[in-house]
Amino acid sequence: MPGAEEERVGDPLHDRDSAAAVLRQVYAAAGPYLDSLADRPVHDAATEALLAELSKLGAPDQPTADGGLPGGTTPGGGPGDGGPADGAGLEGGLPERGVGSVAAVDRLLRIGTTAATHSSGPRFFHFVIGGATPAALAGDWTAALLDQNAAFRASSPLAAELEAVALRWLRELFGLPDRYGGALVASATFANFTSLAVATHWWAEQHGVDVAADGLVTLPRMPVLSGGYVHASARKALQMLGHGRDTVEVYARDRVGRVDLPAIERRLAELDGPAVLIANAGEVNAGDFDPIEALADLAERYGAWLHVDAAFGIFAALSPRTAGLLRGIERADSIACDGHKWLNVPYESGFAFLREPARLPVAFGMPGTAYLPGPGSPLWSGQPGPVDYALYGPESSRRARSMPIWATLAAYGREGHRAMVERQLDLAQRLARLVDEAPDLERLAEVPLCIVCFRAAPGHVPPDELDDLNRRLGAALLDDGRVFVGTTVYDGRVALRPAIVNWRTTEAEIDLLVEVVRELLAQLAPAPRPGG
Ligand SMILES: Cc1ncc(COP(=O)(O)O)c(C=O)c1O
Repeated sequence: MPGAEEERVGDPLHDRDSAAAVLRQVYAAAGPYLDSLADRPVHDAATEALLAELSKLGAPDQPTADGGLPGGTTPGGGPGDGGPADGAGLEGGLPERGVGSVAAVDRLLRIGTTAATHSSGPRFFHFVIGGATPAALAGDWTAALLDQNAAFRASSPLAAELEAVALRWLRELFGLPDRYGGALVASATFANFTSLAVATHWWAEQHGVDVAADGLVTLPRMPVLSGGYVHASARKALQMLGHGRDTVEVYARDRVGRVDLPAIERRLAELDGPAVLIANAGEVNAGDFDPIEALADLAERYGAWLHVDAAFGIFAALSPRTAGLLRGIERADSIACDGHKWLNVPYESGFAFLREPARLPVAFGMPGTAYLPGPGSPLWSGQPGPVDYALYGPESSRRARSMPIWATLAAYGREGHRAMVERQLDLAQRLARLVDEAPDLERLAEVPLCIVCFRAAPGHVPPDELDDLNRRLGAALLDDGRVFVGTTVYDGRVALRPAIVNWRTTEAEIDLLVEVVRELLAQLAPAPRPGG
């Protein structure tokens, strides 16, 4: 039994028997929170006042008889709802003495379920953000419960095997040839990073340099060519790899960014040495695709590395209606994909696929460390063993992010995920139709996938005022919070670009989106009264 002094110090060892109780708190909050997603605003700026309470613990919160706190963990509660933090507290610093796990978790849940951006609900259309299917969410909780280090087979055979199965199932889901292998990473940014790191290694190899060992210092600039759809995260990956984000040579034939193939071909012909081509499968403004097949032909003709950024576009493979958009992807050297977008698994989840997966440990291995398993260890047996994923990507210690992926694919299978994708394709077409029917809205692009790019264009507003109007409309939508839609610039015009990838979204939310846009538009640019 701990002594009184030890109890006071709050060593987690004395909290060992509370884990189940604290998890019950989370469980108790989860049901009402998830139920509330259907109706609550996506975000309520007023709830941001609660954020101050994160660093203002004050006196330990007083638990109620049922172990909760006054004010409780009621989703939808707001500032001034009678919670414990309404009282004065000490500002800022790390608490010297903790409030205890029940009080801490209660506070986190109370603030979190209220002040979060409720992006896992059905009316979040900003960026490209999916939710979490019930099985994926439970899989993610399991990953936290088991707290596996998915670095090495030796650290967790379970995590290593689950990752291998998850990658194989994903490859099959996307119809990629068997030879592709890869690694689970934190995001599409990291998938771009992983792919382009391997591309860098390949390119340096052509120059007789082992870049993993010796770096870039003796090498010329690596040529990277793309159309105008290249995503900021691919540039960021190049920036992190030491190439510089402005390395990318963009060949676009118009303001939208459509790739200029003849210009790319001219440049490849002129280059004296290997290059990296980036194709974009699903760009963020309108969901368009580069012609991957044509880029694969060029890569083959000129001996270039073809990388495809298919963060969410890879899910086009799930439906026969859209699979053709990806034609040629089976010839890519590397492919970057996201799980936390259209697979609807929680953050952080991405995957990189390589046509020659054996290149991954060459780029990411950590040779020469005796205590780590792998070919570089002086204790290595020399026998190729099972894959150690720490050597297959940028991270070393890593969580078992295979668990939510495995759980959602096991729970719903190809059929369930196809049904979800096809519903969202239908919803995007419905939205396009509603926009086309609305006299005050103008669609700016075709809708090949799940993004609808349009703007407000009421007849009584002069064309040179439309950008400003749409900027204000975008801001008003985020302030309003009933539906969350982002703005962009498409073909030189400010536009809205809702992306539909959440498993919960149905026709009702799409109809509401158009209603809210038009309602706010009518307030921002009221139509002149007849004869007025
Ligand atoms: C085409 C594309 N690539 C990469 C990314 C980066 O994804 P993440 O934020 O998951 O790193 C995105 C994000 O929207 C994207 O649309």
